[in-house]
Amino acid sequence: MTYIKPDPEKDYAIILGASSGFGEAVAMELAASGFNIVGIHLDRGSALTKVEQIKRQIQDKGVEALFFNINAASEQKRNEVLTRLKEHFAEKGNQGRVKVMLHSLAFGSLAPFIHNDPKERLSQKQMEMTLNVMAHSLVYWTRDIMLADLFGRGAKIYAMTSSGSTRVTPFYGAVSAAKAALESHVRQLALELAPYQITCNAIRAGVTFTPALRKIPGHETMIDIALSQIPFKRLTQPADIAKFICAQATSDEIWATGNIFNVDGGEICVAFHTPLRK
Ligand SMILES: NC(=O)c1ccc[n+]([C@@H]2O[C@H](COP(=O)([O-])OP(=O)(O)OC[C@H]3O[C@@H](n4cnc5c(N)ncnc54)[C@H](O)[C@@H]3O)[C@@H](O)[C@H]2O)c1
Repeated sequence: MTYIKPDPEKDYAIILGASSGFGEAVAMELAASGFNIVGIHLDRGSALTKVEQIKRQIQDKGVEALFFNINAASEQKRNEVLTRLKEHFAEKGNQGRVKVMLHSLAFGSLAPFIHNDPKERLSQKQMEMTLNVMAHSLVYWTRDIMLADLFGRGAKIYAMTSSGSTRVTPFYGAVSAAKAALESHVRQLALELAPYQITCNAIRAGVTFTPALRKIPGHETMIDIALSQIPFKRLTQPADIAKFICAQATSDEIWATGNIFNVDGGEICVAFHTPLRK
């Protein structure tokens, strides 16, 4: 594979979920390699101080940091961001192009399907919201970036998935459904985008200590199991994913598409059994 150096005059990466975890790490790595970063996130209060730090760190690498604090599942907000980006490219002489997009949104309802108390069980609204944010928004962002003619030739799209797409964990039903749908969307997009020389792949990360993981009831047990089995004897870190995506995105490789890449230090291939917890 040949390394293709990103051109900070033209090349942009859109990161959905840029203020934390994998999205933050990938934004930093791509910025360091020369991509301008368009960061989408949903934060308030003290978390916004961290967002300002991330933007400064990106700008310190000599590239742009265009950040939007919006609900990525809102059609109106998505259109506003893409209109702004189109205007920005026009101001720069219409050379800008989106070469990388990462879908790394964590916004799921963690509740059981079955419970006598309606307040405790997953509602229809929560199910739909989880699937909209964590799965379907990948399709809508990709489609609208295409329709706005913002993707560059050879653009690469990535979506963060997890072992929840095929395995069950208590409270994780809606997110599991979202991951299964997300992987299906990745395959469909790979098919439909190939004529435009655009690839789409899912990255299945191992258990990683991020704010999203810390919200899952029983995550301590998930960490213990992962650590007891993983050949590398440590958890996946956001930087592991960032390095993988950056290496892939800056290569001239265009033939891998529609895949689920396990980027997990071997966690999934040795995983034997996750005991069910209450
Ligand atoms: N942490 C893990 O162990 C793990 C493992 C495999 C896959 N994943 C997946 O990776 C993705 C990112 O997870 P993370 O652990 O980095 O989470 P995180 O909580 O660290 O980051 C989530 C990001 O999503 C943004 N976000 C959430 N809802 C949003 C919305 N509606 N609109 C715009 N932005 C929104 C947040 O602002 C934040 O930037 C998720 O899809 C998650 O399921 C996580």
